[in-house]
Amino acid sequence: MKIAVVGSGYVGLVAGACFAELGHDVVLVDNDQQKLNALQRGECPIHEKFLPELLERHRGQLLHFTDDLAAAARQSQLIFIAVGTPPKEDGDADLSYVESVAKDIAVAIDDYTIVVEKSTVPVYTNSWIRRIMLLNGAPAEMFDVASNPEFLREGSAVTDFLYPDRIVVGADSERCAAAVKEAYEPLVDGSYYNQPDAIPGRDLAPFRAHLIQTSAKSAELIKHASNAFLAMKISFVNAVASVCEAVGADVEQVCEGLGSDSRIGRRFLRPGIGYGGSCFPKDLLAFRAVARENGLQFGLLDEVVTVNDEQRNRFLRKVKKALWTLKGKKLAALGLAFKNGTDDIRESPAMAIVKALLREGCVITAFDPAAMERAAQEFPDGAVNFAAGPYEALRDADACLLLTEWEDFGALDLPRVKSLLRYPIVVDGRNLFSPEKMRAAGLNYYSIGRPDVTGGRNGLPGKALTEAFEEDQAA
Ligand code: UGA
Repeated sequence: MKIAVVGSGYVGLVAGACFAELGHDVVLVDNDQQKLNALQRGECPIHEKFLPELLERHRGQLLHFTDDLAAAARQSQLIFIAVGTPPKEDGDADLSYVESVAKDIAVAIDDYTIVVEKSTVPVYTNSWIRRIMLLNGAPAEMFDVASNPEFLREGSAVTDFLYPDRIVVGADSERCAAAVKEAYEPLVDGSYYNQPDAIPGRDLAPFRAHLIQTSAKSAELIKHASNAFLAMKISFVNAVASVCEAVGADVEQVCEGLGSDSRIGRRFLRPGIGYGGSCFPKDLLAFRAVARENGLQFGLLDEVVTVNDEQRNRFLRKVKKALWTLKGKKLAALGLAFKNGTDDIRESPAMAIVKALLREGCVITAFDPAAMERAAQEFPDGAVNFAAGPYEALRDADACLLLTEWEDFGALDLPRVKSLLRYPIVVDGRNLFSPEKMRAAGLNYYSIGRPDVTGGRNGLPGKALTEAFEEDQAA
């Protein structure tokens, strides 16, 4: 099929490359000429597994780049809109980019075309796109608007696209639904997975993607409801972790018992410093705004956000508890990305914690395997030192803070960690180690929802500092 994808951010770039991988003729449209030049030169602007391979495989063959939306729209059967929908002051999504693309498409097309919303948008966006296209002169019989939300996660976006839990196609006419479904046919009939050079994915042979057809409005709601539910799971487990801390239970044990109920499931029950990224925080606010606009109070969503914000403060209190005073303390921050597998620092809880600690007068040396370049742009005045590796960051630090769940951090050589640190203190915001292991390594260890390990080998300085802090708090 001839497909245009408008917007070459995470969603657009991955979708474009993957549609090319499925054998479609794809043109990726963006108005950022620098980005287009970089893509044309063979660069991959984001850190995403398998994406460089797909771009390399299809660039100039089935994947083309342009800033000419009108020409791309005219030559395409399907036009996926994957432009940004940033939050406005009131939390509602800013749909002006979507509107502007819809206008341009309306003016350009001269044959039946399907416009597909791929960006995460509030319910009713589909109807608005339709209205805007009609107002801009596109005859009703010349187009349809479908909703096909994307569920990919950063870090595993390509495999999430090619091996999806579900594909949702929301359309209000059979003709429109059939065309969008056709684009995914190699995943639904399983033929893609038999190709010798298929991108390896989940080990579920023979795999076939499950496609769900819905109305356009339902598809829009599925996306918001899914992200809100996942965020709710994370906030729920973080609130449970706080109860564990208060009563001396172990949240990891609680999660094993809780998640073993197949109705609940183990996934997205990892306690930590809260969710971040460009999706959950924004989508929660947008979903809440949709509810409000329709006269509904969805107070549960408010609580999910409150627990998430509080989780960062709880972590900062743990750092204080471990170190007593913060001013002038030298800290190693391991992790800056909002999660592992990505260089994305948008709404990253790790970045928020680093900034809060800088305000407290700490001296921070950070390391992240992928996100340092982006993070450095946020600290142009050199407020944060960047290390070449995790061990370099640890040298002579008063404590190690684990802020992103990178696998490599969980594999750190603990005796080496201890020997490099000035104080044997690790504050783990992602529960990457077991307390027993840290105790055996002689480290004072503070994690989420589990008892602290203090007074480790050498007895220094964890216990003394913790007791001093607790006395201060009590006073
Ligand atoms: C999320 C959804 O998972 C995707 O399905 C969706 O398509 C995407 O948003 C989107 O709307 O575009 P993503 O933001 O890439 O994907 O990342 P997640 O893997 O969902 O993680 C989000 C945050 O939650 C991260 O900060 C992560 O560290 C945190 N998290 C995740 C936890 O704290 N605990 C968990 O158990 C899982």
